[in-house]
Formats: sequence, C-alpha cells, structure tokens
Amino acid sequence: MLLKLPPAKVEATEAAADKPVVAILTIEDDIQLFRGNRSNFADLIRTGESLGIVTYVVTIKHLKLGAPRILGFSIRPGEETWVQSWYPRPTIVYNRIPQREDERQPHVKKKLAALSRRPDIRLFNRRFFNKWSLFQWLNENKTTKSYIPETRKLTDAYVLSSLLKKHKTLYLKPVRGKAGVGIMTVSVQTEKKLPYRLQMQEEKGSRTFRCGTMRRLWDRIVKQSANLGEPYIAQQGITLAAVNNRPFDLRALVQKNGYGQWELSGIGARVAGDSSITTHVPRGGYIDDPENLLVSIFGKEQTGKMLFKVQGAAITIAKQIERSCHSRLCEMSMDLGVDTDGHVWFFEANSKPMKFDEPHIRNKSLERIFQYSQYLHRLKQSVKGGAGT
Ligand SMILES: Nc1ncnc2c1ncn2[C@@H]1O[C@H](COP(=O)(O)OP(=O)(O)O)[C@@H](O)[C@H]1O
Ligand SMILES: [Mg+2]
Repeated sequence: MLLKLPPAKVEATEAAADKPVVAILTIEDDIQLFRGNRSNFADLIRTGESLGIVTYVVTIKHLKLGAPRILGFSIRPGEETWVQSWYPRPTIVYNRIPQREDERQPHVKKKLAALSRRPDIRLFNRRFFNKWSLFQWLNENKTTKSYIPETRKLTDAYVLSSLLKKHKTLYLKPVRGKAGVGIMTVSVQTEKKLPYRLQMQEEKGSRTFRCGTMRRLWDRIVKQSANLGEPYIAQQGITLAAVNNRPFDLRALVQKNGYGQWELSGIGARVAGDSSITTHVPRGGYIDDPENLLVSIFGKEQTGKMLFKVQGAAITIAKQIERSCHSRLCEMSMDLGVDTDGHVWFFEANSKPMKFDEPHIRNKSLERIFQYSQYLHRLKQSVKGGAGT
C-alpha cells in the first residue's frame, strides 16, 4: 500500500558528514508512483539504514539536481507502506531504472547524462549493456577474447552460412534481449532430408522448424526476428556441461568492494528446463549448487581449479567491460558457461543484476553496494581534506 503525503508536511532527514547519501534511482509511474522491484529497494534501504547511511528511492522526475533537498520514498520499518520525505542531496546515485524502454525516453536520457557530468555525485550503472558491444569490448583484450564464443552481427544469410561451416550449432540472440526472449538456435544435420533445424524459444519450451535450403532458413529467421524489431547477433554454440542431459550455466555476481576493487560476491548455477534452449528459471530452469554440479562431472580436484578459473575470468571480464564502456560501474552479473572440456565461456553481462535467490549471495550483494559507496565517500573526503592542507 502507498501513502503519499504532501511534501510540505513531511520531515527532512539529515545526513552524517562522514557517510554517503545513497539514492536508488528509478522512474515515476502514474499508478504506483515509481517502478522497479520494491522488495529489492526495501532490502537496500534496510541495509543502508543498518549501516547508518541515508538511503531512499528517488524518481527521475523528483531528482532535481540544483535543489538543496530531494523528495524521496522510503519504507516504514515493519510495514509495507512507502512514504514520501525530504532527503539531503545524494552523493551516490544507484541506477535501478528497470526497463530499457524507460531508459530510452528523452527526459531520462537527459537526466542520466546530467548526472554523469556532476563532480559531486557518483552515478553507478549508467546504462544497460548491449550484447554486441560487450563482444566488441571483450574482443579488444587478449585474455578476455579467449572467453568469448565467435560472434558476428547477423546482417545477412552469408554471415549465417559462413558461421555454420565452422560451428555445428549457432545461437541467434537479440542484442538487447533478456530472459531468453527471441533466442533461437540453428543447426545442420547433413544426414537428414531437411538438414536445417531452427529452434525458437517460446514461453515454455521451444518450437522447431526444419527446411531443406539455406534460403528458406534465412527467410524464417528474418520473419521470426522481425517480431522484436531488434538487431541480432549470431554466435558459436557451446556444448555446455550437462547433468542428466540438462545443460547448466553459471551466474556470477561481481561487485566493487569496500576497497574499490572488483570482487566476486558469489556464483550460482542454473540448470536448463526440459526442452528449453536456455537456462532461465521462468522457462522451467532451476537453481542448483555450482560446486555439486561441477563435482558430479569433473570430480572434486578439477572442480576446485575450475571455480578458481571462473572467478578469475569473471573479474578480468568485469575490468575489461568497465575499461571499454568508459563509465563507472559498481556491479554486474554474468552468464558464464563451462563446456564439456571444462573451458569457461562468456555469454553476457547484465549491468542491473536481478536478485540472487541464494541467501549468502543476496546478503553480500546488498552490503557490497554500501561498502563501495563508503569507500568512494572516504576517498572524496580525503581528497578534499588533502586539498585544504
Ligand atoms: N553461444 C551459446 N552457446 C550455448 N548456450 C548459450 C549460448 N548463448 C546463450 N546460451 C544459453 O542461453 C542462455 C541465455 O543467453 P543470454 O545470452 O544470457 O541471453 P538473455 O539476455 O536472454 O539472458 C544462456 O544463459 C545460456 O544458457
Ligand atoms: Mg542471460
């Protein structure tokens, strides 16, 4: 339930000088005041408060950069009610605008651009990533290049046929996709009468189309991808390690810590649902323990080494993404695959990670955001102090 008090009557919260002020940024909504995952926002506010850090939700509309105080939302302890109050101006703005479409609105773009130019405010997570840019960025570095499957922009049938000569399965993915929407796989089974096989991700499970010529395959792909109106990438298909015939992949959460360094907050595993071409939980996939899964395939000794390798890969990849995207990041989640030979592959990174359901990862992920905020605040103060002496 929501309670909206007139701003004139609400109390103002004060900030401690030695602490940052954290605003969770989202977009206004006509019906429910603001959008986004409310339980995530509530967890963030509770974590911030437990550390004595003023934390509130603010909408693009209410975040007036020149104003001395800001109208924000918080949740009453022990209640499910969101209330509006005046808050000090943020020193950290944590971008949690939930949808790409929202971030594409001109007034939102303008505000984010203005925020990123402010020297007194640190903006975390400037924008969503795009799958094609991610591959270009990771291609620029020798180490990160070794983790990426061969990827091309799907511009014409020639791209498809030349990749199919090298790889027996391809993944076709919209560059701005999420949760498996619009993903297809292509494979060629030369021994069959209709050798080309296209599998399309559906709500639950997948649909298969077969044809005898490249021409027909291409026409079907064009028709199917037109539904989304998004450019696609074509990517080498990786034969993921599998348990009971179900492939699985790893979800790593990488965040900056209280020393300003990238650190792994945790790794989860997602096992594919029956007849699904992806591992997403809403598509019948399920959560499992990465160590148990890997031990059952590679044995205990190898698993230790592999987890170490995955951790190293995740951190190296995060650093390269931050370097290439030219904006300050505080966290990202990553979908990584391990193939049947134990090689680690990168599928994508998300700049606004979804909540991890594993409690040990969840708790750490909340704390880290504030630890990194505190680190930045201390850094700023020491620079200020240094300048005065
Ligand atoms: N090249 C690939 N080879 C094998 N499996 C893949 C490949 N690309 C994606 N997948 C599977 O599909 C899932 C979804 O792909 P992803 O790139 O994360 O798209 P989305 O943005 O829809 O989550 C991955 O987590 C992985 O299980
Ligand atoms: Mg994904």
